[in-house]
Amino acid sequence: MSPLPRSLLPDTAVDAPDGSLIIGGCSVEDLAQEFGTPLFVYDETHLRARCREAVTAFGPDRAVYATKAFLCRAMARLAVQEGMLLDVATGGELHVALAAGVPASKCIFHGNNKSLDELRTALEVGVRRVVVDSFDELDRLDSLHQQRSYATPEVLLRITPGVHAHTHEYVATGQNDSKFGFNLANGDAMRAVERARRAASVQLMGLHCHIGSNVFAVDSFRRAAAAMAGFAAPLELPELVLGGGLGVAYVEGETAPTITEWAEAVREASQAAGVRSEVSVEPGRAIVAGAAITVYTVGTIKRIPGVRTYVAVDGGMSDNPRPVLYGSGYEAFLPRAVDADRRRRVRIVGKHCESGDVLLFNAHLPASVVVGDLLAVPVTGAYGHSMGSNYNKVPRPPVVFVADGAARVVLRRETYDDLLATDVG
Ligand code: LLP
Repeated sequence: MSPLPRSLLPDTAVDAPDGSLIIGGCSVEDLAQEFGTPLFVYDETHLRARCREAVTAFGPDRAVYATKAFLCRAMARLAVQEGMLLDVATGGELHVALAAGVPASKCIFHGNNKSLDELRTALEVGVRRVVVDSFDELDRLDSLHQQRSYATPEVLLRITPGVHAHTHEYVATGQNDSKFGFNLANGDAMRAVERARRAASVQLMGLHCHIGSNVFAVDSFRRAAAAMAGFAAPLELPELVLGGGLGVAYVEGETAPTITEWAEAVREASQAAGVRSEVSVEPGRAIVAGAAITVYTVGTIKRIPGVRTYVAVDGGMSDNPRPVLYGSGYEAFLPRAVDADRRRRVRIVGKHCESGDVLLFNAHLPASVVVGDLLAVPVTGAYGHSMGSNYNKVPRPPVVFVADGAARVVLRRETYDDLLATDVG
């Protein structure tokens, strides 16, 4: 099998004269030496470029970074510095955004089951929009309105347009059988609009939909725009959010539309459907996925003749649960020899106590791989650290941002004492 496709590496990745990998002007081998493994390395230039591309393609205040993909204070600040707003889907995500110094007026508050406390906080701090997901949430907003006088929140209604996006069942959200939003097909969407228009507790600004995540076919977005436009046109609301969901290439042979191409498709479809509202989007994965690689150390190689070879690394499903959750594919390579042919077929597994702890089911690695090698997996910047866990009491890895030859730790490695921080005995 051929070397790792360069397109899967972060924008600033280059080879050192000895064939090893440099990102953001920093040697990946030196980073591993300094910060240990497993380690998430994010290319800051790549992150900033994707944020800027989204802001340029969709317009100021129309590109909202979905923080669920990867959030820490440095990331929240970076996205906002580059002109994005933030999509926060829980009280916790809102808390981190505010702790980063991001004004609440840049935060859009999502969630299919927001608690009364979460809503109260959102109103107290004055988030830019609340995306209302259910009639129960409208009830909760009514009760908050009666209890105390917050400024009336400006809201969008999340609509389920009945569009089935081509993606994994777990991350498809636009179909009628969904826990999210008000269904267009059964009249709930219209009932929600009528109720929100009458309610003193909210000010209806527009509609929202999100058909799913890791969607490669721009046609799915076109269908969503058309379905939403048909519903939205007579309502004459100023805003329409078409969600996130743009896919990214994870493995050799995959290609995904760029953010700019996505914007063109959304614009064409919205114009064709006669949308007059301001259209915004909420990309998460497309901003951060390709910006990062995860660096591990190979600890054990087990050959089972006639069966397969297992290469075990020092992380696993606790830093990347996507392969075991969704069967997601990744590539792997050795940072000491980025362009080496990868002729050895192996299964890359982690250190957790179950057979399901697989990072790459069918990986190709250079034949020279040995115990002690650094092994890297690219395109891990989205939904890796953010969905990480402490399973088996494994501390979460650190995250470093690299740029212009300097590395800064933005999330430090968890310690064993961190594992006891909430254990009150
Ligand atoms: N907006 C809303 C309302 C969302 O629910 C999501 C993702 C996004 C935007 C951002 O979608 P993106 O651009 O990142 O595709 N854990 C899964 C992905 C779950 C996505 C949930 N919602 C994965 O690892 O594939």
